Amino acid sequence: MYVLGVSGDPTGKGTVEQLTTMIIESSKADKSEIISLSTLDIKPCKGCFGCVRDNRCKTEDDWAKIEDKVKEAEVLVLGVPTYYGAAFNINALTHTFLERWFALRHNGIKLKLKKVVLAVVSAVGQEEAAITGLKNFFQTYHGIQAVEVITAKGKIPCLVCGDGETCPISLAVQIYGPEVKITDDLLPTLDKQPEVKEKIQKLW
Ligand SMILES: Cc1cc2nc3c(=O)[nH]c(=O)nc-3n(C[C@H](O)[C@H](O)[C@H](O)COP(=O)(O)O)c2cc1C
Repeated sequence: MYVLGVSGDPTGKGTVEQLTTMIIESSKADKSEIISLSTLDIKPCKGCFGCVRDNRCKTEDDWAKIEDKVKEAEVLVLGVPTYYGAAFNINALTHTFLERWFALRHNGIKLKLKKVVLAVVSAVGQEEAAITGLKNFFQTYHGIQAVEVITAKGKIPCLVCGDGETCPISLAVQIYGPEVKITDDLLPTLDKQPEVKEKIQKLW
């Protein structure tokens, strides 16, 4: 079984990347790898329809390095940060990657993909719309019904930006009160979320 991990973590080292890696490692698949979109230059779909005859996108960028991996994968683990949960839901890096799947939809192309695991991270629990949209993407546009979800908490940006104790629109102040002292105790690292590991163990 070939399990492909794709992390949409733009930092390449945050909670999304760590969670995606944990899930991939737990799969014990005979073939697995993780691709960090932070290391690639993948542009949005141009809507040129150049892919319609041969399912090959004609935009020259790093999509060419990964499209065959996507075509070969039997399981995809997609790491997704929630950005602007009340508006756009997922971050642009992940969105751009998925737009390019348009090239994988023509002429009755059959992907080998049997299952998708969504690893969705949000800071304040606003991941529901992202999950709904992503499930719709895989189920409606690619016919992959088996979509499982692992969620975890990531850092509230105001806890790590440096001004979270004093900024007038600080979420840290709104959540923890005006006297908040930002220490590591407030940061929701994955080792403080044992329920996430338990859920991962039940995946395979
Ligand atoms: C530009 C930006 C927008 C964000 N918007 C939201 C949001 O609307 N809701 C939410 O729960 N978290 C939001 N986050 C927090 C991210 O989901 C969180 O930082 C991300 O999952 C990575 O976590 P990490 O910093 O622990 O690696 C946002 C982060 C950034 C940088």
